[in-house]
Amino acid sequence: MLELVGIGKRYANGHLALDGVDLALPAGRITVVIGPSGCGKSTLLRLLASLERPTSGRILLDGEELHGPSPRIGVVFQEPRLFPWLDVLHNVAFGLSRRLPWRERRALALDACERVGLGSAVEALPKQLSGGMAQRAALARALVGRPPVLLLDEPFSALDAILRAQLQVELLRLWSEDRPTLLLVTHDLDEAVLLADEVVVLGGRPGRVVSRLEIALPRPRDPRESAFQMLRARLLSALPSANLLAA
Ligand SMILES: Nc1ncnc2c1ncn2[C@@H]1O[C@H](COP(=O)(O)OP(=O)(O)OP(=O)(O)O)[C@@H](O)[C@H]1O
Ligand SMILES: [Mg+2]
Repeated sequence: MLELVGIGKRYANGHLALDGVDLALPAGRITVVIGPSGCGKSTLLRLLASLERPTSGRILLDGEELHGPSPRIGVVFQEPRLFPWLDVLHNVAFGLSRRLPWRERRALALDACERVGLGSAVEALPKQLSGGMAQRAALARALVGRPPVLLLDEPFSALDAILRAQLQVELLRLWSEDRPTLLLVTHDLDEAVLLADEVVVLGGRPGRVVSRLEIALPRPRDPRESAFQMLRARLLSALPSANLLAA
């Protein structure tokens, strides 16, 4: 269980991005965070990944306060962030502790590449990869140590619709293998209803949790079904921007 307790974040320039955020991410579940641009979604994710420090509140992983980056938390960003001078295998192996002998790291990285469908591209350099392949490599790097927590910040938003749909299904398959606690930030309402056990809506300035919606549909989910569409409509009306659309 990953928990945010009374989290606030004020950046060095004085901007208060988040204030009083309480949120529990239950173990083994998929929590999707959605909200208008600038409401603090990426800030929230960077705090959970310890890439930023909160200015108030605490972050707890299994009851213990987080004080820095943890190998138990894997992260994927909107862009792949691969090292351009390393091939796919070495980029993926980078997600593992240097304390492991290279032979073991190599075997684990090869396995992770296979799991994301990059088994035949392990020697490719990032510049030789398509956008989808590069994002698969980023996913493999986050998954390679089988972390119990996986954080994804709009991981598919730069990809075309077909590829996005494919990777959403693959993400669910990977998640179902060892059921990490998963937090996914997205702008995409369909992606939220397709993947989430619970959707958390962030909004306001400073950002805070404005609403939460359980998605109890069985998987696999079909966006054409009426129950799916109803939940999507409820989510839309919970978004602060929906009021702007209606205005
Ligand atoms: N390093 C920083 N210094 C100062 N302000 C920042 C910094 N990073 C983000 N902000 C501000 O904090 C607010 C929240 O930013 P954040 O990137 O978390 O939003 P977001 O919800 O992820 O937006 P988007 O949907 O566009 O990705 C924004 O107003 C942003 O300008
Ligand atoms: Mg963002």
